[in-house]
Amino acid sequence: MKANKTARVGMVGAGQLARMTHQAAIDLGIGFAVLARSPSDPAVLSGAEAVFGDYRDPDAVLELAERCDVVTFDHELVPCGLIKALEEKSFVVRPGSESFMYSQDKLYAKTRLKEAGFAVPDFLPLDPGVPDSLVRFAAAHRWPVVVKSRSGGYDGRGVWVVRDEEEAKDFADKFLGNKSAAGTGVSGSREHKDDPDQDNFVVGNKQYEFILENHVEIEKEIAILGVRRPGGEFLAYEPIETVQRNGICNELFMPADISVKLAKSAKETAFAIAETVGAVGLVAIEMFVDGDSNLMINELALRPHNSGHATIEAAYTSQFQNHLRAVLDWPLGSADMKVPAAVMVNILGGRNATDPRELLESVAGYPTVAVHLYGKEPVPGRKLGHVTATGKEREKLFLLAKSCAEELTD
Ligand SMILES: Nc1ncnc2c1ncn2[C@@H]1O[C@H](COP(=O)(O)OP(=O)(O)O)[C@@H](O)[C@H]1O
Ligand SMILES: [Mg+2]
Repeated sequence: MKANKTARVGMVGAGQLARMTHQAAIDLGIGFAVLARSPSDPAVLSGAEAVFGDYRDPDAVLELAERCDVVTFDHELVPCGLIKALEEKSFVVRPGSESFMYSQDKLYAKTRLKEAGFAVPDFLPLDPGVPDSLVRFAAAHRWPVVVKSRSGGYDGRGVWVVRDEEEAKDFADKFLGNKSAAGTGVSGSREHKDDPDQDNFVVGNKQYEFILENHVEIEKEIAILGVRRPGGEFLAYEPIETVQRNGICNELFMPADISVKLAKSAKETAFAIAETVGAVGLVAIEMFVDGDSNLMINELALRPHNSGHATIEAAYTSQFQNHLRAVLDWPLGSADMKVPAAVMVNILGGRNATDPRELLESVAGYPTVAVHLYGKEPVPGRKLGHVTATGKEREKLFLLAKSCAEELTD
């Protein structure tokens, strides 16, 4: 691949991450195509060239690959076998199938990262053949226990906090026993029945495998975003502090309010993980910080990440553009911050499900706040966009971003 020829990147998935990557592709003047499910997918609405089909359909993915120099992803649900098949046909896929497993399968990732010496919460695969395995895990640790779907979860779908024996029984009845939850969608402590995004969460087969995790007393959650070229060149963004509400990362602060020492150690850990995984492109590593400032790895994603939206306004090169540069093996852009601080707040669908585009007049009161809308059908609770405020004082920026996001919600 030569930088002087118009490159073409293909992204499997056409959600908001693909939409924002498309914008970065426009800046670079390169070709960008997506594998979309519907003409109303955010990246199709933004004008990206689209192949329509299912990400589990080998022919659909092949059609995308044939149109592009490199295939990449905006989610991790693509079956690994399908990625391997592309690689065997000599298509360039970044990240490759070996690395992809780390973002697709939480059990695989935790097992391999632990073996490699990284700190992770205590975990165990849940054996559905042993009815009291959840209770036994709690006895060996304590309540609550976190139960997670190995694959397919996001935004807290596929994560359940089980508080006692009674809840453990409910969980087993719902997901492990005869009263199988097949067809009922995801339920448990978090329900998102009205969210059309939920059909991304495939319930069935492998998705019915769970892992048990020790419930960590989290002081802060941070994400380190790094970007890595095939040859190993790596840059890390400043640590980002994420605040989850109902499992969704709803607010983020860049840089995270952590010590210089902890930030350095988190970046070094991210570099070591990216090497271990053989990541190419954007790698986002979610970490827990406990009360003693110990870092623990939660999960990783090998694609642009929702915790990195503020890089658009706050860094010299956004995560989206650096992802494109890295998968094309082009020189990376600086990941340094160009402003002292940035705060992002999600725009979630309001009770009346008013389209935020109808409320845009109200952001006139917030001329310094950047608004990003994803073009999605409004549904209460659904992520419809985000706003980012940049400046100096984090608390002021938060109030500004929060009130602007509220103005766009009804
Ligand atoms: N072991 C744990 N202890 C305490 N909280 C947890 C644990 N694992 C996950 N969580 C909480 O649930 C959120 C979602 O879990 P995560 O594994 O990141 O799933 P998702 O794929 O939905 O992002 C985390 O950001 C954190 O707030
Ligand atoms: Mg997560």
